Amino acid sequence: MESAKNISINVNEDDQELQNNIEKLVNALPKETMCGIPLFQYNGTWYPPNAIRGVISSQQLFQADESDLILASFPKSGTTWLKALIFSIVNRNRYQPKHSPLLSIQPHDLVPTIESDHFRDGLPRNLHQLSQPRIFSTHMPYASLPHSIKASNCRIVYVCRNPLDTVVSQWHFVRSMVKNNNASAQPNPIDDEFFDNYCRGFQAFCPFWDNILGYWKVSLEKPEGVLFMNYEDLKQDSVFELKRLASFLGFPFSAEEEAQGLIEEISTLCSFENLKNLEVNQKGLRLSLIPTTAYFRKGEVGDYVNHLTPSMVEILNKLVEEKFAGSGLVFKSKLNS
Ligand code: A3P
Repeated sequence: MESAKNISINVNEDDQELQNNIEKLVNALPKETMCGIPLFQYNGTWYPPNAIRGVISSQQLFQADESDLILASFPKSGTTWLKALIFSIVNRNRYQPKHSPLLSIQPHDLVPTIESDHFRDGLPRNLHQLSQPRIFSTHMPYASLPHSIKASNCRIVYVCRNPLDTVVSQWHFVRSMVKNNNASAQPNPIDDEFFDNYCRGFQAFCPFWDNILGYWKVSLEKPEGVLFMNYEDLKQDSVFELKRLASFLGFPFSAEEEAQGLIEEISTLCSFENLKNLEVNQKGLRLSLIPTTAYFRKGEVGDYVNHLTPSMVEILNKLVEEKFAGSGLVFKSKLNS
């Protein structure tokens, strides 16, 4: 087998050549199976099959625009929620909340993901039909983002969630994919092997600490370029966080909009309860694999207590302490009363 190091792709190749080279590269990558799903290791991160080709090709082929808005996240940290919020904030002059496209289109279709939607097979698609400013999402770590994003002034919003709730959310999500049915919100213990894999950095888009720390560090160095948000803060005080988000995106709420209650309206439109109960979010499979319902499970802070054993909590807390030591980043695993 050829070594991944000896294979390169470049923008001048024709489509067929490009896809062949990507395929060769993918076949030469370290590969392991997690819950029946193969994961490929590329530049230190494990990627699922529906993202690996897109990661490799978008690094070279994605052309960022200065006005692009990028939502980045580790999976299960609130990506769906932020897609809905960013779309609603940016497009509020085109669509009032009561006529929002979110009522009939899934958040993931309104804000597609660079690696698993636009570049899924290695070739760019559906980029020309996007309205300005373009909004993209990605789970790639900062270090692996397309060069043109890092070289541009486009704004990146990173949403982060405490690792205890994230691993639980991911466990339900993977189970629902494997079983291809609805994720259960019922208490049940997480599988030991799944948990161990997460802690050793072997899950889709893991290690989670690299993903989070990469964006955290850039948000400190370049706060005008990366806004770091927490799922828990959004749950605690959505109006305050929405104002912060809108200002960062370059679409601040005016005093008049605030007085009219527009922030609350957007918050309600994008709330877990509202989105989960919309017909469009209750049917179908995404990427021919993921039940749409799996994106809306419970939407709570602190649900880990129902699914992790005390010893798992201790292990994960220790790991977090070790990996995030000195970073200044603090996770919240319950809301203030
Ligand atoms: P739970 O599994 O804990 O319920 P992502 O969108 O990154 O895949 O994250 C999915 C998690 O966010 C799931 O968490 C899901 O229920 C929750 N979620 C989805 N939409 C939400 C919303 N509008 N508000 C709050 N949480 C939401």
